[in-house]
Amino acid sequence: MESEIKALQQKAEQEIKAVSAQAQLEDLRVRYLGRKAEINRFFAAMKSLPREEKGKTGKALNLFKKKISSLLEEKAEEFSTTEEKEDLTFPGLKIDTGSKHILSHVSEEISSIFERIGFQVIAGKEVEDEWHNFTALNIPLDHPSRDAFDTFYLDLEEKDKGKYLLRSHTSPSQIHVMEKKKPPLAVISPGRVYRPDKVDASHSFMFYQLEGFCVDKNITFAHLKGVLLHFAREFYGEDVVLRFRPHFFPFTEPSAEVDVGCMVCKQKGCSVCSGSGWLEVLGCGMIHPHVLEQGGIDPAQYQGFAFGLGVDRLAMLKYRINDIRLLYENDERFLKQFNEI
Ligand code: DAH
Repeated sequence: MESEIKALQQKAEQEIKAVSAQAQLEDLRVRYLGRKAEINRFFAAMKSLPREEKGKTGKALNLFKKKISSLLEEKAEEFSTTEEKEDLTFPGLKIDTGSKHILSHVSEEISSIFERIGFQVIAGKEVEDEWHNFTALNIPLDHPSRDAFDTFYLDLEEKDKGKYLLRSHTSPSQIHVMEKKKPPLAVISPGRVYRPDKVDASHSFMFYQLEGFCVDKNITFAHLKGVLLHFAREFYGEDVVLRFRPHFFPFTEPSAEVDVGCMVCKQKGCSVCSGSGWLEVLGCGMIHPHVLEQGGIDPAQYQGFAFGLGVDRLAMLKYRINDIRLLYENDERFLKQFNEI
């Protein structure tokens, strides 16, 4: 009987070794170790064997069970590791990395144009007091132009009511710099500004401006024009054209609004420029003597120019974005289009 058991064991071992798919293993387990397995016949027959044979046969049967189950286990393990093994030829997963927001990109591009001609970048404050946002900039309390800078006031205790606000423009940065530094000054100050405007395709209650100004002896409007023309050529390209239109701002005198020739239609007239061939891009002028005084600078000795531009507007014009809300909704499908610029 022992030799029969051995022969069965050999047969089983060979079959297990030859298995090439995991499913076959279960069949073999049932065939050799299951309830109806051949081996059970030997167990039953063992009862009628003489004593000395019983021991040997029992040992052989136990050995059979041990050997076959461990072989089945080993084989099963082999399958689990080969089947889980990584396929190194499989293309890797693309990892999405973050990228700069289009507004950060444009704001940095504008800043670097001015930095290259000697302007220093200084951060302003988003929460301002009334004096810096209005009064020091020649916009007194009862001045009608305050309406143009409709304002978010901070909801504070009675004694501070109406004193602090979210800045409605970046121009107060001029005053902060003048208070701390003496001329010559050439500074730009980009950042967020806030106005309680109804949100639509061209208005947002928060948007980005960039303030620039220069104070020194003998500064003239020609310097202002030269700096702005340089900026426009760097930003839009060499063949850009600028138009200065007289305007009014309380903090500059004289003041102008500046238009660029529409780059979409090459000034032929299109829907972007409403047929006029021009697009307004910034406000500017010679810093009002009162403003220099409020900043602690003697207007008899020094002059300055200043300008303020809307970063959102410049970004929208350059990249043909037709709705300002797209800049603030953080829709990845929109933002991804600018990953490569
Ligand atoms: N602060 C103005 C605004 O928010 C923009 C501006 C106009 C800034 C003329 C200036 C300037 O520095 O000279 O509409």
